[in-house]
Amino acid sequence: MFSVKEALLVAVGELKGSSKIPQKEARILLAHYLKKDQIWLITNEDRELVDEGYFELIRRRKEFEPVEYITNSVVFYSEEFFVDSRVLIPRPETELLVDVSLSTCKGIKNPKIVEIGCGSGVVSIMLAKLLPTAKITALDISKDTLEVSKINAKKHGVEGRIEFILSDLLNSVENSSFDLLVSNPPYIKNSEVLEPNLSYEPDLALFGGKSGDEILKRIIDEFKSRDIKFLACEMGYNQREKILSYLENAEFYKDLAGFDRGFLARK
Ligand SMILES: C[S@@+](CC[C@H](N)C(=O)[O-])C[C@H]1O[C@@H](n2cnc3c(N)ncnc32)[C@H](O)[C@@H]1O
Repeated sequence: MFSVKEALLVAVGELKGSSKIPQKEARILLAHYLKKDQIWLITNEDRELVDEGYFELIRRRKEFEPVEYITNSVVFYSEEFFVDSRVLIPRPETELLVDVSLSTCKGIKNPKIVEIGCGSGVVSIMLAKLLPTAKITALDISKDTLEVSKINAKKHGVEGRIEFILSDLLNSVENSSFDLLVSNPPYIKNSEVLEPNLSYEPDLALFGGKSGDEILKRIIDEFKSRDIKFLACEMGYNQREKILSYLENAEFYKDLAGFDRGFLARK
């Protein structure tokens, strides 16, 4: 048995090689393991409560497994969502895609929105919560992934507001008339060598083809060929020129680090 303080000391030492924020992650994992909050850890540091089970979590993190998969939890748009290795861990920059979608739909009475590649469901679920009159269709090519998005839709009480469909792009969608098509598709080059923690995330969610922008271009084709008013997409920081040559009227937005991160287009 270790005290809280001793366990944290050992864990921080173990995590130094694999984590950029070992103190913070050691604390998050301990709070998760003991089912307590961070303040409890501070006020109970001499309590002897920590057994080997905690160090099993530290061992997983030491092998680069993301904290979010170990705790099955991520915060997106200030809300908590369930995640596991069936889905991409939502990134903070994708909150901007929600913002762009919200401002696009603001003036539309009962917006009809379709999302390609819903993953954990965070984008569609936040849009359902923040646009109470919207009708949302959420698509993914992976059955496993759709199971996770349905868990999250239920957790947030919007399962009746979103239709989930297993589909390669829009192929299985009968209705082809939408106000907004939104997507954060896989956009990394197949040949890119990724950091070790990314190897835990599904390849289907990360890799967009030989040059990386193939799925983005297929999504633009869907937008051009169907009755869809707006297209909002996340993209790689270096894909602006290629997108612009494919979609002349794209308006780009930047992420908080100042990199091009996505675009909005209208018909
Ligand atoms: C980058 S993840 C985005 C997940 C989530 N929307 C988010 O922003 O966190 C891309 C998602 O697209 C899905 N996907 C990949 N190719 C697809 C395709 N051809 N049609 C539909 N979904 C696809 C993947 O399974 C994955 O869930």
